[in-house]
Amino acid sequence: MQRLVVDNLEHLRRWLPWALHEPEGAEKKLDRIRAGRREFESGTDLRYGVFERESGRMLGACGLHDRGEEPGVREIGYWIDVGFVNRGLATELSAALTRMGFECEAASRIEIHCDPRNAASAAVPRKLGYRLRETRPNHRPGVDGELRTGLIWEILPDELAHSAAGRVAVHYGFDPLGTER
Ligand SMILES: CC(C)(COP(=O)(O)OP(=O)(O)OC[C@H]1O[C@@H](n2cnc3c(N)ncnc32)[C@H](O)[C@@H]1OP(=O)(O)O)[C@@H](O)C(=O)NCCC(=O)NCCS
Repeated sequence: MQRLVVDNLEHLRRWLPWALHEPEGAEKKLDRIRAGRREFESGTDLRYGVFERESGRMLGACGLHDRGEEPGVREIGYWIDVGFVNRGLATELSAALTRMGFECEAASRIEIHCDPRNAASAAVPRKLGYRLRETRPNHRPGVDGELRTGLIWEILPDELAHSAAGRVAVHYGFDPLGTER
């Protein structure tokens, strides 16, 4: 993960403020992974690596986050190795996280937030059938530290079945609803 972040510094620093503090070193990264694991166990923040199936090579990271702003609302975040962009990976993982958010976490709404200038990121919710709910001024600090406008995309539980997100096959490794899917 540390190596992947370092290899992608320029790519990540365009849009993700945390990347400005990278590289933070393997020890800190390990602490972060341990903390992430605790949050995963408590169900507050579900973070995942993205791996190539055949080789196990890490290709990025994503998460289904509880930002604590509204109960039941989850937000998807993602980044993909610059060498593997535009192959549909963020779309595929976001579809899977959307299904998981509704089917396993009983989310009342799932959101994807992005900068309006981040066309690659905005394409993901658009392709999956999310609706643009709001263009929010002064949403969150951008990489320059200034508050930036945010696009807030959303999907509701009853919209899943008719969306592209609902059509993706997800292999949980367990049966979330007690029915074969
Ligand atoms: C945003 C990001 C995760 C997208 O990952 P990805 O795996 O390439 O996404 P996908 O391939 O599923 O979809 C990207 C879509 O954006 C489109 N796209 C890419 N660059 C674009 C651009 N400059 N203008 C318009 N569309 C663009 C692609 O054509 C693709 O759409 P298509 O499938 O209809 O052709 C990746 O670019 C990334 O890691 N960026 C840096 C970190 C980041 O911005 N994270 C999100 C913060 S909100």
